[in-house]
Amino acid sequence: MKNESQYKDLLKQAKALVIQDVDDVANMANISRLIMEHFPNHWIGFYRVVGQDLLLGPFNGPIACTRIGFGKGVCGKAWETRQTQIVDDVHQFPGHIACSALSNSEIVVPCIREGEVFAVLDIDSTEYAAFTALDKKHLEELVSYL
Ligand code: SME
Repeated sequence: MKNESQYKDLLKQAKALVIQDVDDVANMANISRLIMEHFPNHWIGFYRVVGQDLLLGPFNGPIACTRIGFGKGVCGKAWETRQTQIVDDVHQFPGHIACSALSNSEIVVPCIREGEVFAVLDIDSTEYAAFTALDKKHLEELVSYL
């Protein structure tokens, strides 16, 4: 994902789109679609913390796995560590959960509210090493609007 000015545009639209008096699902639905329109990727979506697991939330892309445990896969690791995970080659990531054989790299950003991870934003690319510190910085900003 791409340059500062493209991200500025995305963030401006995201800020305008997210409204506080609806539930997270509504905002996540629009945000996942908005990111897809700006930066098309294989899969873009959210998993929400529900009880002991991450459950599939709003997404754009192919059908995905429904439930991910704490610390499992790239998503569970972002939840556990509370840190954005950038994986250049998912085939080298121990415990990677392959929802799609076409995915080769991935970024997962934890969504934190009042000190708690309540969801993660997951983006999968068919390219290797598709994500950088630029994506991390702006996607972390974006999920702070939720
Ligand atoms: N690859 C993720 C699972 C979710 S899908 O990519 C949509 C993981 O390892 O946590």
